[in-house]
Amino acid sequence: MNSVVISGTGLYTPEYSISNQELVESFNAYVNKFNQDHAEAIRNGEIEPLQESSAEFIEKASGIKSRYVLDKEGILDVGYMHPHLPERSNEEQSVQCEMAVSAARQALAEAGRSASDIDFVIVACSNLQRAYPAVSIEVQAALGIEGFAYDMNVACSSATFGIQAAYNAIQSGTAKAVLMVNPEICSGHLNFRDRDSHFIFGDACTAVLLERSDLATVKGYEIVGTKLQTLYSNNIRNNFGFLNRCDERGVGAPDKLFIQNGRKVFKEVCPMVSDMIQAHISEHGIGSQDLRRLWLHQANLNMNVLISKKVLGRDATREEAPTILDTYANTSSAGSIIAFHKHKEGLNSGDVGVICSFGAGYSAGSVIVRKQ
Ligand SMILES: CC(C)(COP(=O)(O)OP(=O)(O)OC[C@H]1O[C@@H](n2cnc3c(N)ncnc32)[C@H](O)[C@@H]1OP(=O)(O)O)[C@@H](O)C(=O)NCCC(=O)NCCS
Repeated sequence: MNSVVISGTGLYTPEYSISNQELVESFNAYVNKFNQDHAEAIRNGEIEPLQESSAEFIEKASGIKSRYVLDKEGILDVGYMHPHLPERSNEEQSVQCEMAVSAARQALAEAGRSASDIDFVIVACSNLQRAYPAVSIEVQAALGIEGFAYDMNVACSSATFGIQAAYNAIQSGTAKAVLMVNPEICSGHLNFRDRDSHFIFGDACTAVLLERSDLATVKGYEIVGTKLQTLYSNNIRNNFGFLNRCDERGVGAPDKLFIQNGRKVFKEVCPMVSDMIQAHISEHGIGSQDLRRLWLHQANLNMNVLISKKVLGRDATREEAPTILDTYANTSSAGSIIAFHKHKEGLNSGDVGVICSFGAGYSAGSVIVRKQ
């Protein structure tokens, strides 16, 4: 079996950022307008008034202070409240392809590689902007890569599942070098009129380059092992899909966007993830005292504090469990890879860390890496 190394990573960050304050101002203007427009029905007890959101609540409950987005104007426009991304012709690069190519070029440069060295492309993310042709094949063509490509979706765990697919392919010899990218346009599936979740997500794209260790030209992060877990749950769900038009009654309903029972997710996913990491490291004879870094999925700061404490048996320092939630918010599968991309330096040769994702499905993935 070939050994496998992560030799490069890349990150595309959209140019616009929205602070909690800006988001809440727009949301509260919507709430006030709604309550005014429905004043009589509210007075008659026919409908409940909407409640205002609060920037302080958002930061305290999630650790999020701002998020990057592809379009700011449409999201903050009280009469619109979603990103405005004009459709492109079939001859133009799709938005996801453009994001992926930007992140991929950084990963290739860091690894000292060019497109001709890659033979497999994976696009792994929560939402694909079209059914087909696969976005990964468009990325492959845009970069001039020969070989094969496919898309995959395991929601927030798409990147770790993508890493395992790449790892398996390189180990078994069906690929030599794999580009795995995560173009996440989470603002597209977020209901900005829902007080419980309007603050959760941001947009970003990450790229990970994985290679056969003996062929790599830079010292990277050797994959020690991967472990995946899934457990069916309706607590995070989005019913958007190609069959929606077959029953017009549901078109445009709130369940065709992201919905969740955040409290339940918090309670159920934290133990699932800490148990998985502990089992995974012990399968490889690694103790929690040997872990130098935990690059965790970035959904909620309080969740990460809890998970890292359970895994390490003590509070993790900010260096040991880095967070990017404050500026990026939840970028779905890109989150743990952004944490890895921005905070992978400072490890010594032989140091071990874990990249870990979790989210809808439920799905969770753990990737143990050792600095070369
Ligand atoms: C979503 C999340 C941040 C909410 O935090 P929480 O502490 O669970 O908050 P709750 O939903 O229980 O709400 C607590 C209170 O704040 C209120 N509240 C909710 N949203 C609010 C907002 N935007 N502004 C002000 N108050 C708000 C609620 O009405 C509730 O009030 P009550 O106590 O009077 O009933 C948190 O549950 C979470 O992150 N869960 C994990 C989600 C996750 O990982 N999902 C994966 C997605 S990929």
